Amino acid sequence: MNHILGIVASPREGGNTEILMERVLSAAREEGAETRVFTVAGKTIGPCTACDACVRGEAEHCVIEDDMQELYPMMQWAEVIVFGSPVYMGTMTAQLKCIFDRARSLWREPGGMLHKGAAAVVVGEGRWGRQEFAVQTIWWAATNHGMLVLEPEADVCAVANEPGDVLKDERALKDAEALGRRLARLNLSLG
Ligand SMILES: Cc1cc2nc3c(=O)[nH]c(=O)nc-3n(C[C@H](O)[C@H](O)[C@H](O)COP(=O)(O)O)c2cc1C
Repeated sequence: MNHILGIVASPREGGNTEILMERVLSAAREEGAETRVFTVAGKTIGPCTACDACVRGEAEHCVIEDDMQELYPMMQWAEVIVFGSPVYMGTMTAQLKCIFDRARSLWREPGGMLHKGAAAVVVGEGRWGRQEFAVQTIWWAATNHGMLVLEPEADVCAVANEPGDVLKDERALKDAEALGRRLARLNLSLG
């Protein structure tokens, strides 16, 4: 059974993205998957400074000593990573972009990002709040790492604003549970 990591890239603890991610992960656990969650709320993940120490192999992962250090081994552990983000200005949050950039060191590592499964869970306040574009930016970043994405219908888009509003978006909750079940059973045999 797959190891599934959920990354919640909202700075709001207990926010909509976190609630939706828990739906995905609990459905996956019911199917036998092992899950872990990492949330950026209350944590510091700075931007890449392009020092290239990771590329030259001069740092285990990254020379920046912040909460990304806790995330690296979790990303290595996972076979599937679910990237959760609120829509911010039509795209993923800055925190999630920092995670994708700082994961550059995992490019060259066995058990890094290559050929792992990726899925997106996004929440925006507007019905036309650019959720789809945010999902696409997650796809671009994930596939840039060599990760594998599913077809569009598999990812989760929600409409919600105040924390907890997402519990009223029944379609999104249903989609989140379907995604969790699907990811638990996903056969990642590309190697
Ligand atoms: C800086 C900022 C930018 C936002 N930009 C958008 C946006 O472009 N489209 C949208 O639909 N919602 C936007 N929102 C609203 C959030 O996506 C929405 O409140 C979401 O439910 C927050 O998720 P969370 O509870 O997980 O933090 C923005 C919120 C903030 C704070």
